Amino acid sequence: MSERTLVLLKPDAVRRGLVGEILSRYERKGLSIVAMEMRTIDGAMADQHYAEHVDKPFYPPLREFVTSGPLVAAVLEGDDAIEVVRLLNGATDARKAAAGTIRGDLALSNRENLVHGSDSPEAAKREIALWFPNLH
Ligand code: CMP
Repeated sequence: MSERTLVLLKPDAVRRGLVGEILSRYERKGLSIVAMEMRTIDGAMADQHYAEHVDKPFYPPLREFVTSGPLVAAVLEGDDAIEVVRLLNGATDARKAAAGTIRGDLALSNRENLVHGSDSPEAAKREIALWFPNLH
């Protein structure tokens, strides 16, 4: 079933010049970009996006990292887009992510792991509304 998911190409992806490489992987897979924006977020936006993580011990440095420079937010659409993006992204800890995935091929950190993808239909709905309130 066609669905939408929210992806972030985090500040490490922009700093390292990997935006084109990462977007290409999503597009070559067959997903469509239906909205996209480059922006630098503040701590309040990070807290909203990562609402479920704000009390976790890893959150303060994560907050620092995601607000450290421009990122690219996008909405991708296609069959089972939420699960497909998570498969393409690979495991959260890039050191353990499988070769062939974005994190497995291009990153080596549990925090600076290049990408975020919504982890459920509920999260996708919430995150798309947060990042692209005018998208219908
Ligand atoms: P993301 O998929 O955006 O969801 C939460 C983010 O928190 C995750 O990617 C990582 O960037 C970061 N993260 C999750 N777990 C840890 C951890 N144990 N240590 C550091 N960063 C983490």
